[in-house]
Amino acid sequence: MNNDKTINIGLMGLGVVGSGVLRIIHEKARVLALETDRNLRVKKILVREKAKVRDISVDAALLTNDPDEILDDPTISIVIELIGGVEPAYAYAKRAILAGKHLVTGNKDVMAVHGPELLRLANEKSVDVYFEASVGGGIPLIGSFRSDLVANEIREIYAIINGTTNYILTRMSREGAALTEVLPDAQRLGFAEADPTKDVEGIDAAYKLAILTSLAFRTEVDPADIPRTGIMQLEPADFRYAQDLGYVIKLLALARQENAAPQQSARYEASVYPALVPQTAPLASVDGVYNAVYVVGDLVGNVMFYGRGAGSEPTASAIVADVIDVAHNIISQVTNRIPYTIDSAKTMKPMDEVETRFYFRLWVADRPGVLAKIASICGTHRISIASVIQKEADPEEQTAEIVITTHDAYERAMQAALQDIAALDVVARVAGFLRIVDLGEPVRV
Ligand code: HSE
Repeated sequence: MNNDKTINIGLMGLGVVGSGVLRIIHEKARVLALETDRNLRVKKILVREKAKVRDISVDAALLTNDPDEILDDPTISIVIELIGGVEPAYAYAKRAILAGKHLVTGNKDVMAVHGPELLRLANEKSVDVYFEASVGGGIPLIGSFRSDLVANEIREIYAIINGTTNYILTRMSREGAALTEVLPDAQRLGFAEADPTKDVEGIDAAYKLAILTSLAFRTEVDPADIPRTGIMQLEPADFRYAQDLGYVIKLLALARQENAAPQQSARYEASVYPALVPQTAPLASVDGVYNAVYVVGDLVGNVMFYGRGAGSEPTASAIVADVIDVAHNIISQVTNRIPYTIDSAKTMKPMDEVETRFYFRLWVADRPGVLAKIASICGTHRISIASVIQKEADPEEQTAEIVITTHDAYERAMQAALQDIAALDVVARVAGFLRIVDLGEPVRV
């Protein structure tokens, strides 16, 4: 293949995913050349430490510590950014676009915070930005929202998009274990980081949801605006009651649009929280480190994407596919084939105004009239109780554990009621609080 048939690539980052990408570009060179009619050549690789011992064998001459060797090289037309975090990755991404290079990134932080700006800039500069790997590893989500589902008004998204927490919740559910028992295993197995905050507090999921919601609802969602609750407060008792009630507990990233008149812009909600999901819902059986995104569109109905949301090969699968797409665009001399459109009139609905069902677990004094007091507070706040369970009692302390589920109620009302309930002298502790998301058609056999 002669040189004018070569597309030069600058790879920024040679960690787990970067190494996977490099290996696939080398190992599949023949197939990639067939697919693109070009020789995809990694010309430079930006690394922190050139001398580091790596799992992958790499020509030392390709390695550099200097981003300019990629960003200022006019022969490099595609930059793959796999550094992670906002800075310096965002600065490099912007420079690459300004220099007229196409960008392929797996960076959810950059795309969630600066994605709209980078996409607009790319449009101005007639280059492409691809970011399939930024959410859900190898699961085809971004391309699906941008093209395959584009004829739909997406109504609802329910996503399990954090493998670490899904692994932890799956084990807590199966083994009745406490989070503090399972988390060290997740860290030992490499699923959870030494500092697991971003995963267990729902931050990682909120960033990914911001990207998906922006695309699906044609709006700009700032991840900082997404209300989120993590999983640290969950106790084994919540998993036992969930099972008794016919549910499982999943950390859901969800987004829903209100129905609006054709000429009006809908409001939408977006949030991340652990929720009770019916055992019969397709998402309930998404276990371990697997991810899944369940989408409801006005035309397509219900669609579920399922697969490995992280890891070297699944993520590299998405990156290399994006590189191939860019190569096709270069050959066809087109850019921004799929425009980035937004409906600026759309707004996010405050969490207070969201209606859903609730579950709460209380330790209360085991004596007459206690339930009546709690029911009365719910009534005052216009919250209708759906079920009450009382199983556990502590005869020594003369306390009992009560679990209450509600029908649909406003978040604002539920929070106010919980405050009043917690202040009752007969209530020792509000031990659990979860939202119930009765989603999905049951899996039928
Ligand atoms: N920490 C993430 C997860 C993977 O557990 O799914 C990277 O986004």
